[in-house]
Amino acid sequence: MNEHFDNEMKLEFVSKSVNEAFARISIAAFASQLDPTIEELSDIKTAVSEAVTNCIIHGYENSLGIVKIVAKLKGKEITIEISDEGKGIENIDIAKEPLYTTKPDLERSGMGFTIMENFMDSMKVESIVGLGTKVTMTKIIKEQIKKDEDEMKEFINC
Ligand SMILES: Nc1ncnc2c1ncn2[C@@H]1O[C@H](COP(=O)(O)OP(=O)(O)OP(=O)(O)O)[C@@H](O)[C@H]1O
Ligand SMILES: [Mg+2]
Repeated sequence: MNEHFDNEMKLEFVSKSVNEAFARISIAAFASQLDPTIEELSDIKTAVSEAVTNCIIHGYENSLGIVKIVAKLKGKEITIEISDEGKGIENIDIAKEPLYTTKPDLERSGMGFTIMENFMDSMKVESIVGLGTKVTMTKIIKEQIKKDEDEMKEFINC
């Protein structure tokens, strides 16, 4: 294990859509060590789902390959890397634009990257055509004291 982190896990699975739920639940279970709220956990699950679905549908285009996930904890921060060795992305800036999709026929809305960006604190995409794609996302789980303060503020505003 890298000593710069408090904890680390790796997951590899075949690019079948049934494994999307497995990945989402596994990462949520790992992230729960940071004591997230239901909402924070749900943000992480949604972002993981989007990234894994992209590997399966776009990276491997439904042929079989391996999807890898590495998750690391440091303090109250979780870093999640999700990668494939599939076809890669030609222009990352364009791919990240809201509503941009190369598969409109498959009822894709082109919102995956936008959702990941909004639900996590940071999101980075690295890709090489023909070699694959890696998405790295981080989320900082709020300290309990901050959660209590926010709850109190909400209560006072009511
Ligand atoms: N892992 C990947 N490998 C290859 N291309 C990718 C990968 N992830 C995303 N892309 C490309 O980036 C585009 C935008 O991805 P994004 O997730 O934002 O939208 P989408 O998957 O097309 O639609 P949605 O996520 O809303 O169902 C995709 O249409 C695809 O061309
Ligand atoms: Mg997508």
